[in-house]
This record gives sequence, C-alpha cells and structure tokens, in this order.
Amino acid sequence: MQDSVITSQWEEENSQDFIDYGKYFVPDREIQINCVCEVIPPPSEAAYILDLCCGEGLLTRALLDKFPESHVYGLDGSPKMIAHIEKALAAYGERFKAKQFDLAASNWREFSFPVYAVVSSLAIHHLDGTEKQALFKDVASLLAPGGSFIIADLTEPMDRFGQKLAADTWDEVVRQRSLDLDGDLRGYDYFCELGWNHYAQHEIDPDSIDKPSSLFDQLKWLEQAGFTDVDVFWMKAGHAIFGGRKPNP
Ligand SMILES: C[S@@+](CC[C@H](N)C(=O)[O-])C[C@H]1O[C@@H](n2cnc3c(N)ncnc32)[C@H](O)[C@@H]1O
Repeated sequence: MQDSVITSQWEEENSQDFIDYGKYFVPDREIQINCVCEVIPPPSEAAYILDLCCGEGLLTRALLDKFPESHVYGLDGSPKMIAHIEKALAAYGERFKAKQFDLAASNWREFSFPVYAVVSSLAIHHLDGTEKQALFKDVASLLAPGGSFIIADLTEPMDRFGQKLAADTWDEVVRQRSLDLDGDLRGYDYFCELGWNHYAQHEIDPDSIDKPSSLFDQLKWLEQAGFTDVDVFWMKAGHAIFGGRKPNP
C-alpha cells in the first residue's frame, strides 16, 4: 500500500466512512452526479476529462458512461480510494486511469494532452480561499479552449440564517435518505455521531478539515480566473454545483 500524500487532513478513516456512508450523507447524490454530466457539452471526438478527488468513482463512472469516446483521469490523495476506484472501474480498461495526487500541490497541473473538462465533487472545500483561487487559475490554464470546469461542493453561507437553514436542511435530507434507503435511521445517526454536518458547528474551527468559501466569492474567483458563462446549476442544503467555460480564442 502507498503512503498517503494528503496534506490537508483528510485521513484514511474519512475515506472508509465516505465509502460506507456517502450514500446517506450526500444530498440528492444521484441528481448531483447527473447534473454535473448534463452541463458538460458532449464532445465531438475523443476527449480527456479530469475528476479531481474522484474518491470511490461514482461521478467518474457516470462520465465514462455518458461520454463513451472519453478518457477519464481520476486523481485522489487517498490510497484507499485509489484502490477502490481502480477495482470498480477496471472494466473501462484504457479509458480510465487513476493517480495519487495532492489537490493543494501544483506539481500535477500540466498535461501533455488537451483537457476537455475538469470536474470535482465534494473536495475543493478542503482548500482555503487562497488555494481555491490558485486552483481556479491553474485549471483555466490547463483546460483546452471551450473546456468546462464544473464543481460540486459545500459552500459557506453568508450569515447565520443561511447557516442554520443549510444545517437543518442537510440534517433532514440525511434523515430522509436513511429512511428511504434502509427504513431506519442508522445512516443518519452515524452522520450525527461523526459531526459530519459542517453547518451545525456553532463556531468556525480553524483546524477543521472543511474550509468552504461562499458561493458568491467562488463565482467571482472563477470569473477572475478567466472563465465565462459562470453559472450555478443546482443548490441544496449548502451544497452547490457551479462552474464556467474557458473562452474560445
Ligand atoms: C467527500 S470525498 C468525495 C469523493 C468523490 N469526489 C465523490 O463526490 O464521491 C473527498 C475526496 O477528496 C479526497 N481528498 C481530500 N483532500 C485531498 C487532497 N488534499 N488531495 C487529494 N485528495 C484529497 C479524499 O481522499 C476523498 O476521496
């Protein structure tokens, strides 16, 4: 087994919790995956797509299925996630490759082929605001003209009213998913036990693994990085799907 290269505090036990309980914890998980795929224009020829912090690979698989000509690179810092996705997506052969990386590092941000789209789900909030801005600029550089950058992630509400609404809605969504999936509240109880609901914290913990930025700031940063057609495609319980396109020259 490789050593973890994660520097931003996501641990292997978080990976195991997410593999086991992500189906309860992520609001509208299936709708989110579908939404990210729908807002990427279908490529007219073979295209390379990057899934940053691909985890166990549910979005990665959906992209491979939606765009049958595509090659998808799944990057993640967790050896456990990489092992999981390599096994789960082995049937896609050469069309899928996994690689370990640190999202915050800059050593992976150049590619020898044109990148058609970059996606990332539930991970960029582990970077602070400055790191997010640097990432957005580097993604704008590495994308081919016309390429899409689509982010699904936690966002930080602007005030305590928004925070309470996000906390309560996320709680209710997970409670309902537990009931719908299993007919009991075990998934929801574990969500509460782990304190996974970032919005339910009463004070911001400076050492927290979660550093979401406001949606408004992130839309501005995308525009400042050079993206056009910056838009929000879905939002619920503090989670949002948003992104933009690299302009054609
Ligand atoms: C909540 S999971 C989301 C996984 C997947 N994208 C999904 O939506 O199902 C967060 C993922 O980000 C990865 N991750 C967190 N911080 C990272 C970092 N600094 N570098 C690389 N991967 C990181 C974790 O290993 C984990 O797979």
